[in-house]
Amino acid sequence: MILNKPDLDVSGLKIPQHVAIIMDGNGRWAKKRLLPRQAGHRAGVENLRRVIDACIEFGIEVLTIYAFSTENWGRPESEVRGLMRIFARVLDQEVYELHDQGVRIYHLGDLNGIDKNLQDKVHRAMELTRNNERLLLNVAFNYGGRAEILHAIRQLLADGVSPEELNEDVFGRYLFTSGLPDPDLVIRTSGEKRISNFLIWQAAYAEFYQTPIYWPDFDREALYDALLAYTGRDRRYGLLKD
Ligand code: FPP
Repeated sequence: MILNKPDLDVSGLKIPQHVAIIMDGNGRWAKKRLLPRQAGHRAGVENLRRVIDACIEFGIEVLTIYAFSTENWGRPESEVRGLMRIFARVLDQEVYELHDQGVRIYHLGDLNGIDKNLQDKVHRAMELTRNNERLLLNVAFNYGGRAEILHAIRQLLADGVSPEELNEDVFGRYLFTSGLPDPDLVIRTSGEKRISNFLIWQAAYAEFYQTPIYWPDFDREALYDALLAYTGRDRRYGLLKD
């Protein structure tokens, strides 16, 4: 049975150009259902597919997802291995459909130390989709905001950039997100109210939205609610209201 998607009117909404999501709550979603954590991560991936579709439908140009942080290596080895298996499978199976949809896949983070096979899959996915323009999907994988900033500083020093030459634009060019617009809206699911080392430079003036919904249940309607909340925000960038 094909269910029609209920109409969601976006005409009055302010659509952020760049949405970044901390996809949290897979483990709790699974626990609530007496399922293993890996089932929660699998449900999380299925949901990602739906949210990508919704982003395209709503006219969002850039979506950045926090898939695996530099801190996530500290999880039990079996969970880390399970997550790596999921990433490999997604890169094998889902990339072609994303490509057909006009999604460009881009990696943020450090691929050093990642299984060589997985590194190759990431490079192939980026190469295959590099000319797509419908939605840019940044996957923050083995990513940490502090590590990114340190990486940028090392490169700046290696390039001999002088203190006089350095400004925010120059610095931004040394981040993994070089050339990309800053996120306008950062969403965190599952009720947590932390930024957890995610885009800490880039999100300086992003609007933050959190919802108690666990990531596998964060659907098109939930994204619409986030956009509705964003529309009501008054972005002042440190200036006064006019
Ligand atoms: C947070 O839930 C989720 C993660 C650490 C992994 C997120 C990854 C996916 C949803 C996979 C999709 C990504 C790609 C690119 C295939 P949690 O485990 O911290 O949940 P909990 O806080 O309830 O334990």
